[in-house]
Amino acid sequence: MTALDVVIMAAGKGTRMKSSMPKVLHQLAGKALVQHVIDTARSLKARNTIVITGHGAELVEPALLAANAADHLQFAHQMPQLGTGHAVQQAVPLLPDDGVVVVLSGDVPLTQADTLKALLDVCGGKQLALLTIDFADPTGYGRIVRSPSGQVHAIVEHKDANAEQRDIHEVYSGIMAVPAKLLKPWLARLDNHNAQQEFYLTDVVKFAEADGVSVVACKITDAAQVAGVNSPTQLAELERAFQQRQAHAFMADGVRIMDPARFDVRGTLTCEQDVEIDVNCIFQGNVSLGQGVKIGANCVIANCTIEAGAVIHPFTHIDGEKLGVTVGEGALIGPFARLRPGAQLAAEVHIGNFVEVKNSTMAKGSKANHLAYLGDATVGERVNYGAGSITANYDGANKHRTVIEADVHIGSNCVLVAPVTIGAGGTVGGGSTITKSTEAGALSVARGKQISIANYKRPEKKPKV
Ligand code: UD1
Ligand code: CA
Repeated sequence: MTALDVVIMAAGKGTRMKSSMPKVLHQLAGKALVQHVIDTARSLKARNTIVITGHGAELVEPALLAANAADHLQFAHQMPQLGTGHAVQQAVPLLPDDGVVVVLSGDVPLTQADTLKALLDVCGGKQLALLTIDFADPTGYGRIVRSPSGQVHAIVEHKDANAEQRDIHEVYSGIMAVPAKLLKPWLARLDNHNAQQEFYLTDVVKFAEADGVSVVACKITDAAQVAGVNSPTQLAELERAFQQRQAHAFMADGVRIMDPARFDVRGTLTCEQDVEIDVNCIFQGNVSLGQGVKIGANCVIANCTIEAGAVIHPFTHIDGEKLGVTVGEGALIGPFARLRPGAQLAAEVHIGNFVEVKNSTMAKGSKANHLAYLGDATVGERVNYGAGSITANYDGANKHRTVIEADVHIGSNCVLVAPVTIGAGGTVGGGSTITKSTEAGALSVARGKQISIANYKRPEKKPKV
């Protein structure tokens, strides 16, 4: 097999995005547009991946270097931008002669690897292969002009096309595969004698014909694979196309998604059997859902492992960020719960509404059901953590841990001032502020003693004089 070298054109300005950020860095499914293209190149085991940068190169290059540290990405600078042919010319010094070059665009994120494999098969290491598609409205695209026998004879840009050519519905997608040893001399022959005074990459078709090299079209029907992003509207359309594709792939694997039009994965989601996901959920980073997990409506879940049988009720926000979050088997979370980085919840833990857990472990069967905060805490088995109670884990300078041993009962509205340990089986009376560690089995109460004054009369308004 001939080695593959990928050239990704990404020098254009993206004027219609009306954004200060370079177009190819705009995100689709949580990932820069051009990163989708780089990842496709990686999945094809490209030998070289060369990104042509121009507008915003000072932002694009560092962002891509950081995101692809393990890969050997190369950049070629194109300034000013004199057309797609001129763009690929900039990569010539980086292209070995023995490879096949695939030309892609950084703003066309959804081309599938299988499509490019088919294109490479058509190229066969010796001919010019063009990815084409029929469009009902081909306005703006380069038309595929064929001879009466059907042989591809030229690509004519819309602005250069005559009326007859404008009637052609087959267009060039912007993607081609061509052996480097043919491409390089053709690039050297390009001129800009055309309606846009640009160096058109598409003119290589003329040179191929002149040199007796076959030009073969590989026609596809899936428009999303060749759709470019030029505006926020197109970005949103492709985001939906991508998410629908993902949703249908999950459903094909048995995941029950209530509405594939209201389902978003911006990262990697893995699901065991019998997972159910209600509407409007967003999954970010790495999320794994165990057997039979149920996710209620309107949850945002990032960087988290949810084990078998756990139920996440509606409006729950989980973000494991760097430390991760684990929800154990059969746990019940939410509605309206918030799990932050380092929340490690064992089996059958219950976290109820308006409860926040951060950097804390909760052992099997522990419960915090209402309006509570657990930060930097180690909670033993079967603990009941009362409504409105909090760990005061921050003294204004440092964070301290709270340890709540097994079978403790913390009443409502308590403050546990860390560092502090509540001994096993102990009870803390409601409304207590606990500043000293407590013995196992003890009842601890730390609040003003109640007094009751019999037959108390409230002050009365003085009569008006
Ligand atoms: C190009 C094709 C056209 C095809 C269409 C598909 C040419 C001459 N025409 O159109 O036949 O139907 O794609 O979308 O190739 N870019 C650079 N440097 C430049 C010019 C462009 O990096 O100097 C990049 C752009 O940022 C973009 C890509 O190349 O990512 C394609 O450029 P664009 O202007 O969208 O394509 P067209 O020339 O309109
Ligand atoms: Ca153009």
